[in-house]
Amino acid sequence: MQLTGNTILITGGTSGIGLELAKELIGRKNTVVITGRKKEKLDQAKKQLPQVHVIRSDVSQAAEIQALLERVTGEFPDLNILINNAGVMRSINLVADKNSKDDITDEIDINLKGPIRMAQAFLPHLKRKPHSAIVNVSSGLAFVPLPISPVYCATKAALHSFTLSLRAQLIRTNVRVFELAPPATQTDILSDFDPEVMKGVSVMKVGDMVKAALEGMEQDRLEIRPGQSNQLKFMSRLAPEFILKQMSRSVDHMLSAPG
Ligand SMILES: NC(=O)c1ccc[n+]([C@@H]2O[C@H](COP(=O)([O-])OP(=O)(O)OC[C@H]3O[C@@H](n4cnc5c(N)ncnc54)[C@H](OP(=O)(O)O)[C@@H]3O)[C@@H](O)[C@H]2O)c1
Repeated sequence: MQLTGNTILITGGTSGIGLELAKELIGRKNTVVITGRKKEKLDQAKKQLPQVHVIRSDVSQAAEIQALLERVTGEFPDLNILINNAGVMRSINLVADKNSKDDITDEIDINLKGPIRMAQAFLPHLKRKPHSAIVNVSSGLAFVPLPISPVYCATKAALHSFTLSLRAQLIRTNVRVFELAPPATQTDILSDFDPEVMKGVSVMKVGDMVKAALEGMEQDRLEIRPGQSNQLKFMSRLAPEFILKQMSRSVDHMLSAPG
């Protein structure tokens, strides 16, 4: 896919992978609109990238998606690429009763229902464009779970599956469906994780990850698995029990932590 001269909407574009994608895509002469929940982060992104267009919108709220559709297609009628990038990741101890959260399904609303609703809302518009695409940002953890983040990994596995179905259904349209499955990448999403858990994980620089992602899109690789994500997919097929056991080591530290 040609990555110049497009009009692109990136959900969750105020930091990390989304912001880096915005920066690179603006550099390649695309019009880029980003969303996020927090006004301060949107203002900060605008300061950093004066050419970016910012809209406050929460992907977990169906009404906000509808309002976003109306605004974006009104102000940017040439919109032809949607990047479903917004996401959150938490470590959740399912064993500790007192730690159980009433917001346990938040990741489902943001990481899974969000992209599904966005695709449904924006498809009628995208189908009318001669060249268009939906990019779903899943994770290497879509292929094998990291059991300290059980809900997150479930959403990414489900998003991977949804993307396969979406791609199959859109086969006769002009809408290409990409999946970007990043490996551990240096962004704010990892900041809450205990360094002990991250020991031995090789974390990719966000700039390198985004370069690999854009290269994949330019080469029409529909499932883009930079760095260790490729190994996770391979191992999940070759030696599923072995790789799950490796990934499950993260739980030892969680279960032995006080409280
Ligand atoms: N970094 C990694 O290691 C890694 C690995 C694999 C996959 N990923 C995926 O990559 C994507 C981007 O994550 P990141 O690493 O760049 O993390 P990040 O720096 O924390 O960025 C997350 C972005 O999503 C936005 N966001 C969160 N909830 C939202 C909501 N309900 N509605 C709209 N925007 C929302 C955040 O802004 P606000 O908080 O202001 O809303 C922020 O702009 C996520 O889908 C993540 O799962 C990351």
